[in-house]
Amino acid sequence: MPLTVSVIGTNYLGAAHAAGMAQFGHQVIGVDIDQARVDSLNAGRPTIFEPDLEPMLARHVASGQLRFTTDYAEIADWADVHFVAVGTPRAADGSADLSQVFAVADRLGPLLTRPTLVAGKSTVPVGTAARLQQRLRELAPAGDGVEVLWNPEFLREAHAVADTLRPDRIVLGAQSQQALATMRQVYARPIADQVPVVECDLATAELIKSAANTFLAMKISFINALAQMCEAAGGDVVPLADALGYDRRIGRDFLNAGLGFGGGCLPKDIAALAYRATELGVPQLTQLITAIETINDTQRSAVTHIAVRSLGDEVTGRRVAVLGAAFKPGTDDTRNSPALTVAAQLAALGAEVRVYDPQARVDLPELTQCPSLDEALDAADLVLHLTEWPQFRQLDPAALGSVVRRKVLIDARLRLDRDAWQRAGWQVIQPGRATSR
Ligand code: UGA
Repeated sequence: MPLTVSVIGTNYLGAAHAAGMAQFGHQVIGVDIDQARVDSLNAGRPTIFEPDLEPMLARHVASGQLRFTTDYAEIADWADVHFVAVGTPRAADGSADLSQVFAVADRLGPLLTRPTLVAGKSTVPVGTAARLQQRLRELAPAGDGVEVLWNPEFLREAHAVADTLRPDRIVLGAQSQQALATMRQVYARPIADQVPVVECDLATAELIKSAANTFLAMKISFINALAQMCEAAGGDVVPLADALGYDRRIGRDFLNAGLGFGGGCLPKDIAALAYRATELGVPQLTQLITAIETINDTQRSAVTHIAVRSLGDEVTGRRVAVLGAAFKPGTDDTRNSPALTVAAQLAALGAEVRVYDPQARVDLPELTQCPSLDEALDAADLVLHLTEWPQFRQLDPAALGSVVRRKVLIDARLRLDRDAWQRAGWQVIQPGRATSR
């Protein structure tokens, strides 16, 4: 049976979730304080680049099943479930900034006059759901009729639609059977498709999400530390990762060594878990996360050092072409992008850095964004492959050789065909693949 659903916060997470809810057959209103974003979404246009989102969004907006508003009064007593999908950015001290979550409570709470379910999707420190419920109950005329549950989101940018429609699992941290029954109705379609459901308490649901992102970050830092070992000892991290991955207990996913992780989620979520672990007296977890972060930072500076060395330590005025600016391929998101860190470090050392990315806009004044690859490569002394867009694998190294000044390539993501580039006369450096040189 279709439900009425609101989705509060319509950026990456909320826009995909709102469209997904409509796809599951529900009547959906998305709410955002940003009028321009609401206008764009009501015209069927996402405000972010996310493959496959636009057609799904446009279809459900056109049918009237999905719309967007800035007015909380339209959703308050209308929705069976309110999803909270606002941002929880990193505060200066590493903790999660929960101001957007509690701003939702302040806007929505006073308008709730009938028993209501509020389902958190944002990634939050353990304990937040209980605090949110307390605040909502204080503010709402419905009082204890307001119940908060936590239903963390695991979607990946660039795969948001697929991950929303067919998640690996659905986590429901709830306090009542009634809340669970409603959520099983919300997710009736994926549940019918055999997507597993984990039912648990609020705190466990909050922790599951933090733990998942920390484990993924840990896998990446683990393989990157091994890449450093390969550099030091003369080994090759790619077959090493392949061999580890064949062990089903380990798995090959998230064992791609390179520049490490970035983006709007992994870095801030692991920092927030570290902060909360210290608060709750679990310093061992904080130490583990600190090691993960240190390895991740080292990957970026190591590539900068290799670049400086390959320029003969003469960086000032040298032209460096950077392929990729997004934090990963398939997105226009540059938040905490490893590629931009390396590019900015080289610019700070005096290089003229020219960046090309198929989607992402570069807002750093010290970097020159080029509209085409050829312009970025023009007369370059060094080429850096920093975000592994699939189209970079199709490049013809022989043709590019005539555009640059020096045929030197650092493939920091270890994805380009080294032999083909070498055959075309390029010197190719792939950090972590020492035996290959
Ligand atoms: C991540 C999680 O994968 C999602 O499950 C989660 O829902 C999301 O955060 C979130 O909390 O909202 P996302 O930030 O889109 O998703 O990016 P990932 O695909 O996880 O990639 C993160 C970073 O790790 C990227 O910079 C990527 O280049 C890097 N990475 C990934 C590696 O360096 N090596 C790998 O093997 C895999």
